Amino acid sequence: MFRFDPYSPANDADPFPAYKTLRDEHPAFWCEEAGMWVYSRYADIVTALNDWQTYSSAKGNLVDELPNRAGNTLGTTDPPRHDRLRALIQKAVTKRALDYLEDPIRAVCRKHLDALKGRKTFDFVNDFSSKVTVDLLFHLFAMPTDKQEIVRDKAVLMVQTDPVTRKKGPEHLAAYEWMANFAAELVAERKKNPGDDLLSNFITSEIDGEKLADKEVQLTVTTLIMAGIESLSGFMSVMGLNLADHPEARRALVADPSLIPDAMEESLRYNTSAQRFRRCLTRDVEIHGKVMKAGDFVMLAYGAGNRDERQFPNPDVYDITRKPRGHLGFGGGVHACLGTAIARMACKIAFEEFLQAFPDFTRTQQDLPWVPSSNFRSPLKLELAVG
Ligand code: HEM
Repeated sequence: MFRFDPYSPANDADPFPAYKTLRDEHPAFWCEEAGMWVYSRYADIVTALNDWQTYSSAKGNLVDELPNRAGNTLGTTDPPRHDRLRALIQKAVTKRALDYLEDPIRAVCRKHLDALKGRKTFDFVNDFSSKVTVDLLFHLFAMPTDKQEIVRDKAVLMVQTDPVTRKKGPEHLAAYEWMANFAAELVAERKKNPGDDLLSNFITSEIDGEKLADKEVQLTVTTLIMAGIESLSGFMSVMGLNLADHPEARRALVADPSLIPDAMEESLRYNTSAQRFRRCLTRDVEIHGKVMKAGDFVMLAYGAGNRDERQFPNPDVYDITRKPRGHLGFGGGVHACLGTAIARMACKIAFEEFLQAFPDFTRTQQDLPWVPSSNFRSPLKLELAVG
C-alpha cells in the first residue's frame, strides 16, 4: 500500500518519486502520518491558493504548527486582518526601498568569500549561504551583532522536527520561545530608540492612522527571522547544490552572469526549499472522488506541483533556460511570499560573487545530510571541492 511520510529521512532526501505517485494515482491523498489531506497537482494547489475563503491559514500554515502562531502572524491569518498586516509590512519591503541593500549584501558576500580564499574544500551551507543570510537579516533589522550565532542556531532549530520522533521536540519549542522573547526585547528597545532600519519602519508604519500592536510586531519579527534566515539560506543552499550537480548550467552562468536570475527561478521550481505548507478547510469539499470535511487540514505540496508534467514539460530536468512562469516556489494567492524582492536580490548578488570567486566546484559527498523538517528541504551541509 502506498504511503507518503513527510517525516521520514527518505522523504527529506528525495520526495520526488512519492510526489509523482501522489499526482498520478492519489491526487487527494489522506496522509496518516501528518493527519491531513495532500494536494500534489499544480492545478489543485493553485485553486486552493486562490480560494482563501475555503482554504484558511488562520489555523496555522506550517505542517507542524508552532504554539501561538495560528491567528497571530501574517502567514497565519486570513483577510481582512491579514491584508492589514501585509499592507503595513509591504511598505517597508518593496523593491524600490531595497535598492540601498545592494552594496551591503555584496560586501557581506565578499567578506565571507575572502575568508575562504586558498581553501580547497569548504561547506557551502555553513561557510557561505547561512553566514550571508544571517548577516543580511541583522543588517536589515539593525540587530546586535553579538547575537548572530545564537539567533542563527535558534532559527535553524525552530523549523526542524526531531530526527527520531519526527515531531517538534522540546528543543525546537524552546528555540521558538527564545526567538519570541528575543523579538519582544528587540521591539521594546527599538520603540525607545527608533532608527532607519526595517524594524523601526514596522513599528512606526501606519495605515488609516492605525499602527501594528506590540504582539503583532513581535510575532511578525519572529516569523521574518525564521523566513529570512531559514528559507533564504535553505534556498541558496539548494541552488548551490543544483549548480554543483549541473556543471553545464554553472559554466553558462560563469560565462554570462545575467542568466543567474533565470537559474534562480528554475531552482525555485525544481527543488525549492519551502516544500509544503498547510491550510484548513472552512467547508466540505469534494475533489477527485474524495469528500473532505470542514475542519480538515490540507497540505499543499508546492514541491510536487512544481514537478507536475501537466504544467511543466519534462519537469525532472533542471533547465535554466525554462523561465518557469507561475512556479510555486514562493507559494501564491494572498499569502505569496512577501520576501521575494529581498530573496531575488540577495541570491542574484550572492551567486554573482560566489561564481566569480569559485567558478569551478564539485560536491565531495554523495549522500547529503538533510534538514529534518515536514515543511522545508535543504542540505544541512554541502561540502564542495573547488578549482
Ligand atoms: C528564496 C527564499 C524564500 C522562499 C523559497 C520563500 C518561500 C515562501 C513561501 C512558499 C511562502 C508561502 C507560505 C504559505 O503558503 O503559507 C512564503 C511566505 C512568506 N515569506 Fe517567504 N520565502 C523566502 C524568503 C523570504 C524572506 C527573505 C522573507 C523576509 C525577509 C520572507 C518572508 C515571508 C513572509 C512574511 C511570508 C508570509 C506572507 C503572507 O502570509 O502574506 N520570505 N515564503
